Amino acid sequence: MSEATVDTSVFDGFRGAMRRMASSVSVITTVNGDAHHGMAATSVSSLSFSPPSLLVCINRNITMHDAVKMAGVFCVNILGETHGDVCDAFGGKLNGAERFTIGGWLDHDTGLRYLPDAAASIFCKLDATFEYGTHTICVGLVEKVILGEEGAPLLYREGGVGGFRRF
Ligand SMILES: Cc1cc2nc3c(=O)[nH]c(=O)nc-3n(C[C@H](O)[C@H](O)[C@H](O)COP(=O)(O)O)c2cc1C
Repeated sequence: MSEATVDTSVFDGFRGAMRRMASSVSVITTVNGDAHHGMAATSVSSLSFSPPSLLVCINRNITMHDAVKMAGVFCVNILGETHGDVCDAFGGKLNGAERFTIGGWLDHDTGLRYLPDAAASIFCKLDATFEYGTHTICVGLVEKVILGEEGAPLLYREGGVGGFRRF
């Protein structure tokens, strides 16, 4: 067995494997009254076109978890290559509403905050939840989409961000 394919424990192996997976970064926002919340997320995935739906997995220990459940709505903002600072802020560098000081956030008619220069902002109704381990799988029924900049995406891999290269 070569060094590159060395066997290891399931936990370490899985963590190492996931670190090697490049994922597009989004910021999920929600709102309860006047209180806006946001978090960085790589767990966003398209679910179905019938009905148009996506999923995001949210750790039950973080602020967004109960905030999204209470609000029943959320917005997925797909970050572009220029949004490294936004990713940092919403990934834990800043706390609470202070996170929205990074990036040109706007308030949509729905009350949800969105990033106009994101690749896209997808407004969802929380339609179903499934608890698994430490996380809740949240299914969003897509109600509105704003397509923004068509530029390169922001990717997360090996604990850091980078860009996309087409062959
Ligand atoms: C690039 C990146 C992707 C992340 N993806 C997720 C995710 O998909 N689900 C999740 O629960 N936390 C994810 N996190 C961690 C949350 O963003 C972080 O725990 C949250 O912002 C903490 O918020 P709080 O301090 O308000 O509770 C990610 C962090 C980073 C930096």
